[in-house]
Amino acid sequence: MKVTKLADALGAEISGVDLSKKLNPEEVGQLIAAWHEHLVLRFRGNHLTDKQLLALTQNFGTIDPPGPNTQGKPYLEDYPEINVISNIKVGEVAIGGLGDGEASWHTDMTYIEKPPKGSFLHALEIPNIGGNTSWGNMYLAYEDLSADIKKAIAGKKAIHDSTYNSAGIMRKGMREVTDVREAPGAHHPLVVLHPSTGKPALFLGRRRNSSILRLDLKESDELLDELWAHAANPKYCFTQVWQLHDLMLWDNIATIHRRDSFDANARRLMHRTQIKGDVLQPLS
Ligand code: OGA
Ligand code: MN
Repeated sequence: MKVTKLADALGAEISGVDLSKKLNPEEVGQLIAAWHEHLVLRFRGNHLTDKQLLALTQNFGTIDPPGPNTQGKPYLEDYPEINVISNIKVGEVAIGGLGDGEASWHTDMTYIEKPPKGSFLHALEIPNIGGNTSWGNMYLAYEDLSADIKKAIAGKKAIHDSTYNSAGIMRKGMREVTDVREAPGAHHPLVVLHPSTGKPALFLGRRRNSSILRLDLKESDELLDELWAHAANPKYCFTQVWQLHDLMLWDNIATIHRRDSFDANARRLMHRTQIKGDVLQPLS
């Protein structure tokens, strides 16, 4: 197995391992160590079936089913544990979520008490151009914060709204949030200790309808805007330009990610699995 770094901030390509086969404990151990160290792993040229993707995911923990989508039922009847990310429609019906627009910076499913510790995304159809995905390293973003900001966010929690998905589309059964203080969704520390590495990471979730508890709203908005501007700095990021059958695995606690828009007439299809996570503990 070979590990090649993809960017200074985070990301590594793993080669020399056939993911369609059952992995031995030593291989699994190496992959988990690389995932914790590099936060985003890219595997190229593995043509995994859905069954193989599920089997692979299970090496990293328990599979976490997707959150509620805009249609209120799983996209794949035979594999409800798999989420479909796609702009493709059959007739009027979308076969997956997130469409063709930008998906703004976020971490997956932080509106639940135990957000997934990781996600896999497998590219089955990609546009010729656009639809690139970027990840940011939130260990580095936390480390670089000024002492004042570290102090301002120490011991604070934020609301992680569950109303909208990363494409800004309302989930089934939700209603518009008029007061962000009342937004439905889990409350998590702004600085979490990563359950596996024990290192502190900035944990923002997504900006929309977010607010910091025990701060007045104006102060909360200003601080969140500042934190987001800092976290999204390209120096913390790696951008993935997809090739067909690329498979990405990311650490969903220590990273944020976003996706560029792409041509609405192009087809993009990804299958995603997630690994169940833990309740997140604060730094202090
Ligand atoms: C996701 C996501 C990015 C992409 O699946 O969680 O944000 O590239 N997708 O489609
Ligand atoms: Mn996502």
